[in-house]
Amino acid sequence: MVKIGNVELSSNILLAPMAGVSDLGFRYLARKYGAGLTYTEMISVKALCFGNRRTFDLLALAENESPSAIQLFGSDPEAFYNACRLPELQKFDIIDINMGCPVRKVVSRGEGSALMKTPTLATEIVKACLEGSNKPVTIKHRSGYDHETAPEFASLMEKAGVSAITVHGRTREQMYTGAADWEVIKRVKQAVRVPVFGNGDIKTASDVKEMIQQTGCDGVMLARGAIGNPSIFAEITGKQVDIDIFSDIMTHINLLKSTTHEEAIVGLMKCHLMGHVKGKVGARDVRFSVGAAKTLDDIIEIAKRIAEC
Ligand SMILES: Cc1cc2nc3c(=O)[nH]c(=O)nc-3n(C[C@H](O)[C@H](O)[C@H](O)COP(=O)(O)O)c2cc1C
Repeated sequence: MVKIGNVELSSNILLAPMAGVSDLGFRYLARKYGAGLTYTEMISVKALCFGNRRTFDLLALAENESPSAIQLFGSDPEAFYNACRLPELQKFDIIDINMGCPVRKVVSRGEGSALMKTPTLATEIVKACLEGSNKPVTIKHRSGYDHETAPEFASLMEKAGVSAITVHGRTREQMYTGAADWEVIKRVKQAVRVPVFGNGDIKTASDVKEMIQQTGCDGVMLARGAIGNPSIFAEITGKQVDIDIFSDIMTHINLLKSTTHEEAIVGLMKCHLMGHVKGKVGARDVRFSVGAAKTLDDIIEIAKRIAEC
């Protein structure tokens, strides 16, 4: 099985960090169905260093998240170092650094995918995390900023000391559009010795097989293809688990209750429920109800309808 540094994963199929999506409840379900690793959404090192309470709420882990990973973002090596030393971060087994976020607000501060344009700074950040923690440090980056640089970039990051690399086969310019280029994942795999996880456009179990075959990558990371469909991990890994959609949605809601308030839960669950209805008969009506939902009771009623679809 794949190892990231000294951390062994139970499967090489991972759930991606997704801001506003990979919450505690969703991560619990993904692990239940066989995901080998789940990540918190991207967390600002600056917010951690300033002691922002809301940010600390994002650090809650589900009981089945072992091993666990936190994804950090920022551009100041000292802030990464200080964040890694915080007592609240010691429960995580792996520190992942976001070098792929394409959002203008993030990139304009030299964070996320902008780090692919400043490999010296990216190296300093990796080293700061290694100094600040005794955990394996990993990175997730794109195929490049505006053109492909991922193989050279990955090789530099390996020299800096990362223990694994996830490559999303799109440039920053592409944001989330167009088809992901899996060939770049193959070139990164050939450029480094640490495990490489491929990411981009995996929607089915056969996509997983195809990506591994085409690129030689050590594992894959699913993002949008898993939203509203956490049992896809069982389909891919062959894990035998009973699937009960309504009970999963209730578990998801109950886990969120331990970290946040009703209004926030309704917002989070709308995104997951939209994923559940995608491609189903009667989806249009249910999608309308999801959009109009205001309370948790509304969400639970919709969950009942989805389970009956
Ligand atoms: C709503 C949303 C939020 C995301 N947030 C993050 C994030 O916090 N950190 C990160 O590294 N990537 C983030 N991503 C990118 C995904 O992890 C993934 O790289 C991308 O969606 C490509 O995979 P896919 O084609 O399977 O969706 C996000 C993507 C989406 C759709």
